[in-house]
Amino acid sequence: MDTATSSATDIGAERPGTERVPLLLQAFTDQPLNRPAVWMMRQAGRYMHEYQAVRQKHSFLEICKTPEVAVEVTMQPITAFDFDASIIFSDILIPLEAMGLALEFTDAKGPKLPQPIQTEADLARLHSFDPSVETGFLLKALGMMRHELSGTNKALLGFAGAPWTLASYAMEGTSWKTGRHVKQWLYHRPDLLHLLLGQLSTMLIGYLSAQVHAGAQAVQLFDTWASQCPLPYYDEFVMAYQRQVITGFKAIHPTVPILLFVKQSAAVMDRLVPTGADGFSIDEWTPLDVARTRLGNGVTLQGNLDSAALFIEDDECLKAMTDKVIALGGKQRFIFNLGHGVLPHTPRENVRKVVEWVKASGSL
Ligand code: CP3
Repeated sequence: MDTATSSATDIGAERPGTERVPLLLQAFTDQPLNRPAVWMMRQAGRYMHEYQAVRQKHSFLEICKTPEVAVEVTMQPITAFDFDASIIFSDILIPLEAMGLALEFTDAKGPKLPQPIQTEADLARLHSFDPSVETGFLLKALGMMRHELSGTNKALLGFAGAPWTLASYAMEGTSWKTGRHVKQWLYHRPDLLHLLLGQLSTMLIGYLSAQVHAGAQAVQLFDTWASQCPLPYYDEFVMAYQRQVITGFKAIHPTVPILLFVKQSAAVMDRLVPTGADGFSIDEWTPLDVARTRLGNGVTLQGNLDSAALFIEDDECLKAMTDKVIALGGKQRFIFNLGHGVLPHTPRENVRKVVEWVKASGSL
């Protein structure tokens, strides 16, 4: 990878005069900030009528794979709510398809991989891929988004699923239910699970790096199903591979922030910092002051208003909850977000208000 290209997108290396350092990137330094940057996981999606209108014309995968449409949808929450960061519209399962696993999205049941990896022979079906070829649509969309955001102080985020979560989808063929196939290998054929996780980790380093070269200014690794791995196995099968991806990524892009989201991380708080990530998305279970004490002052925290709070039809109550998150998050190394993603049917007015309140908190 050539460092000249990567340094152009690294913190503080923006061409002078053409771009300000986005507020979100400032949260990865010790600098105290007037207010936190605000964005929300799953900020683009079905709760927005603009998104529903695009979905009338295109399937979910068509949106992901058509750069102009992916950019349109990525921009929808930016235009509507003026978030400080934009996460490229895609899905964590896209690279599994590029590795050779058929992928479908059903309206009722979410993602489906009809030919999951369940035997040793199945592993041979997985192959490496060139992100600029097989996922060229994503890189093109990132480049176009970077152009859209130029001259603003908004950051562009890339993302991927972490190895354990991707292995879970690859083996179960759908979202986690019993985890019976993954656990079969975890307990009985750990050698095969290690092969799968290793292959995914190698892929992820190249895939995330390609996103940075294309324009992403920070990246987030989603480990949605990490907490489904029993604790005695967690270090070896979850954390070790998070660290492998993060270490590999940092070796190529030492100054590009990488965030890690472990859903339900309360039981594994002490296992976050050793992954080497620059920041951690914390779910609503753990108050941010507790997370700060456990994780220390050297990392960035992101979170953690409960996604369900956005349904509260009482401004005073929702504002009090928002203010509490801001107060516990503090002035340094903090990014305002939800504990998880925006849920379908979320009243959009509440999204707008929360963003407005976070922004106004700086002028108090
Ligand atoms: O705005 C953004 O945050 C960017 C886009 C984004 C999507 N998926 C779009 C999407 C991101 C970052 C993801 C990540 C993702 N995808 C995760 C990790 C984060 C998390 O939520 O835990 C996971 C586990 C997936 C897998 C996935 N994709 C599921 C389980 C589903 C179905 C559930 C659902 O909400 O429908 C999807 C589909 C999906 N990904 C949609 C969107 C907007 C809904 C698609 C549609 O029907 O239009």
